[in-house]
Amino acid sequence: MSENNMDSKNTKRTILRAEGMIKDFVTGDIVLRALKGVNLTIDEGEFVVILGPSGSGKSTMLNIIGGIDTITEGKLFYDIVPVHELDKAGLTDYRRKYIGFVFQFYNLMPNLSAIENISLAAELSENPLNPNELLEAVGLLARADYYPAKMSGGQQQRVAIARALCKNPDLLLCDEPTGALDIKTGVEILKLLLDFNRRYKKTVIIVTHNADIALVADKVIYFRDGNIEKIQINEKPMNPDEVNW
Ligand SMILES: Nc1ncnc2c1ncn2[C@@H]1O[C@H](COP(=O)(O)OP(=O)(O)OP(=O)(O)O)[C@@H](O)[C@H]1O
Ligand SMILES: [Mg+2]
Repeated sequence: MSENNMDSKNTKRTILRAEGMIKDFVTGDIVLRALKGVNLTIDEGEFVVILGPSGSGKSTMLNIIGGIDTITEGKLFYDIVPVHELDKAGLTDYRRKYIGFVFQFYNLMPNLSAIENISLAAELSENPLNPNELLEAVGLLARADYYPAKMSGGQQQRVAIARALCKNPDLLLCDEPTGALDIKTGVEILKLLLDFNRRYKKTVIIVTHNADIALVADKVIYFRDGNIEKIQINEKPMNPDEVNW
């Protein structure tokens, strides 16, 4: 590992680096600049929360980091992978190798049971975790054969998280994972994500409107109008049980 990759203070390794990221959405004659030159580094194993007003570019950035959208200008490196240079096939490969996604609205396959939804992801992965163990970890072993329509929102989100984790991704990206849930269920989901982060030393990035979630993060990124307004490092992130939700 080169000296350049190390932060001499705490020996953390930079895993993600964005340099001057610009994203333009073009609709007819109208160009909307959703990202206006974002610079950012994220360390391996960090638990990162992104906050910011609606329309400030949070999802746009997450989608680009996850390789489901592309940047207009600038650079994005995941480890040594130049994501900004990848073509369609390269991006597919990048997502398959490194990325897990959790969305606000679960996106489960309606005609597959809970365990089948998770197993499908396992079949598509190189180094999957055990679907049954994950279903147990999210507390849903008893619902293994339930279809999504027969499960509550929180249960569906737990299946979606088990599915994302099953891929054993090095980088887990979550866009408002608790947005559609009540507070208690949302906290349970958050604990699952933290557990994955701490236990397996995986990098997790969460976009949320819930500022309380920032209290448990290692790094909080505040977005405003297509750029980063400020970055806050929590030297001692709170335990979710200490937070007054
Ligand atoms: N596919 C698209 N085509 C055109 N404009 C888009 C597209 N996706 C997003 N935008 C615009 O880019 C800007 C940033 O959108 P983005 O979805 O990243 O915001 P956000 O911070 O995630 O907001 P929210 O908190 O409401 O989810 C917005 O002005 C939005 O209208
Ligand atoms: Mg969004």
